[in-house]
Amino acid sequence: MAEWPANPTLIGKRIPRLDGLLKASGKAKYPSDVRPEGTLFGVMLYSPYAHASVKSIDVSAAEKMPGVKAVVVIDKGGAVVPGKEAASAVGRVLRYHGDDVAAVAAETEEQARDAVRAIKVEYEVLPHVATVELSMAEGAPQVFKPANVRKGRSVERGKPADAMAAAEVTVEGTYSVPMVTHVCLESHGLTAKWEGDDKLTVWASTQNVARLGNDLGRPFELPPANITVLTDYMGGGFGSKFGPDVWGVAAARMAKMSGRPVRMFLDRVQEHLAAGNRPSNAAHIKMGANRDGKIVAMIAEANGTGGVGAGADVILPYVYSVPNTRVEQSTVFTNFGSQRAMRAPRHPQSCTLTEAAMDDLAEKLGMDPIEFRLKNLSPTDFHTKIYQAELAMGAELIGWREKRKPRGRTGTGPIRTGMGVALHQWGGGGQPGNRVICNINPDGSVELKTATQDIGTGARTILAIIAAEILGLQPTDIISNIGNSTFPPGQSSGGSTTSPSMAPPTYDAVTKARDALFKKVAPTLDNARPEDITLKDGRVWVSGEPVTSWKDACRKLGTSSISETGEFIPGLSQSGVGGAQFAEVAVDLETGVVKVKKIVAIQDTGLILDKLTWESQVYGGVIMGLNYGLFEERAVDPTTGRMLNPDMEWYKLAGASDIPEIIVRAYEPDEQKARGVIGVGEPPTISTAAAIGNAVANAIGVRVPEWPMTPRNVLNALATASREGRA
Ligand code: MOS
Repeated sequence: MAEWPANPTLIGKRIPRLDGLLKASGKAKYPSDVRPEGTLFGVMLYSPYAHASVKSIDVSAAEKMPGVKAVVVIDKGGAVVPGKEAASAVGRVLRYHGDDVAAVAAETEEQARDAVRAIKVEYEVLPHVATVELSMAEGAPQVFKPANVRKGRSVERGKPADAMAAAEVTVEGTYSVPMVTHVCLESHGLTAKWEGDDKLTVWASTQNVARLGNDLGRPFELPPANITVLTDYMGGGFGSKFGPDVWGVAAARMAKMSGRPVRMFLDRVQEHLAAGNRPSNAAHIKMGANRDGKIVAMIAEANGTGGVGAGADVILPYVYSVPNTRVEQSTVFTNFGSQRAMRAPRHPQSCTLTEAAMDDLAEKLGMDPIEFRLKNLSPTDFHTKIYQAELAMGAELIGWREKRKPRGRTGTGPIRTGMGVALHQWGGGGQPGNRVICNINPDGSVELKTATQDIGTGARTILAIIAAEILGLQPTDIISNIGNSTFPPGQSSGGSTTSPSMAPPTYDAVTKARDALFKKVAPTLDNARPEDITLKDGRVWVSGEPVTSWKDACRKLGTSSISETGEFIPGLSQSGVGGAQFAEVAVDLETGVVKVKKIVAIQDTGLILDKLTWESQVYGGVIMGLNYGLFEERAVDPTTGRMLNPDMEWYKLAGASDIPEIIVRAYEPDEQKARGVIGVGEPPTISTAAAIGNAVANAIGVRVPEWPMTPRNVLNALATASREGRA
């Protein structure tokens, strides 16, 4: 089994991104910035109704508008067809506001928008359902046949009813998290350009450079090899950017029809409506424990909606070991765009719901929330040791022992401060099947090639760090070439798998290339034995003595480069991480405004390749979690079934002044580093909202059961408690 260098000079250090300057200066061209010669602008027409069918559609006026070069419609089966086949769209059922109807490509964006408005569609408006409650009601309009409710994963372990009846202390509550959208800074889309009839190039904002062509090729009966996908940079993808989508196919279709490149990126409104969401969930949870703090039972019923998409299931209980459990859950369809995987799918919901009930039970037991959690970690789970260490580190950093007061005894004025904690876990392991090419050229340049992508995480930089480490060079000496589907297959960036999947083949490729170089140049180095040659500080060493520079050694290759291909090799990466987060908040009892003062995030992820990009991911995860905790929700109007805030004004996200002090620490003792590389993209976003909610309950003495912690939800909880005489 391969092993990482024992005393690295670069791995684990704070190394700036190779493309940082390009990004900060605007020189980095994102797919949405690309304008091949003659580019047309594509614009989608989408359903204004939550539920409707197309009675008639007439694109003839739109086709005659100035600048218009192509019009397509989406037919009954969901295929993208030329405007002249518009009749095939009649009868198509649209199931949400934002569902694709047609598209136009024109010389300018304004002309395309005008032409979209000139498409005449007669809709038959159908009854819709906008909330879980309305969807589950007797006689509700059906989103799909045969039923709006689809049973999800149930759990039955031990004897939950008996154990609950025998429990010495129980709590019961309904906790909920909202449906939120991905809000990628760069919206979904691509620019498509044909060469002849059978070669397609797309500049796509995608997490899936290597395999996007599989789905994009199908409607054109093109093999994936005929499609080149280019993604030098991309403005964020949290699980929703793996496929070409209808709008991508529409761009390629209109590019083919017009003989011109077509750029199609969603506008911010449709981006919110159609490009995915994280499902909501509301869980009624009953939990029981004995006086000693051991949980004995959990009985829960959970319902969530991901719009027209299935899969709103959560994991209950999350993290903690509960011997007797019954969980029943359902996905409830509503007339909104389909859910898509979103940064740690299912985990933020599962964590928030479980951790709220955990905290309420600790409160009722009169136990410190940290002590209570420690008592209920599984003795056989490898995460337990990690959590124990992380809880101790985090408690110290936030000042838990000195500053935290019991729930509701946090002061007398209108501003109350409180603290909360939550735990999370994630996989993040490596996948085989990817390859990396390493070229060493006679001019001393080193090039890596693989069809993975950097979705903002630093993937380009960490590949260069690995090569530089092995070759005794600097990361800036390495050309880290990714984001091109003509390179050997690279990992799709999902599940925090990019680093653990791509680090091993990079190590393998570079090691093989280095060994090939040693073999070639050894005869020119006083007939040194290849095994006596080492590399360090840009020099070549023989038996510990510097003999020549890297560049001079490479010159000896003459006219031929070395090119080696690396495969996934075991031993360098692993899966399975745990993290703990702490929040300190101040809540204004009069306005309900929650201000997060401090977050402490402790995360383990095995061997860290670049401390700087690692921290950047944890900061980003925490900020996304803070948004989930405080601000984000898809506001819907039950009457029209429309989303009320599909924009960046009313879909609230943190601004600079909302960001608290964030302390990020890695849990990385030697035994953790020895596990190898594990992905960190997703885990740090999981538990932030839970920790914030628990801090709010601690501050105000009342559980706010509905996320996000908006003034409305806080004041509602206070009002309910006061009505019930609890506060
Ligand atoms: Mo992630 S939600 O697996 O892109």
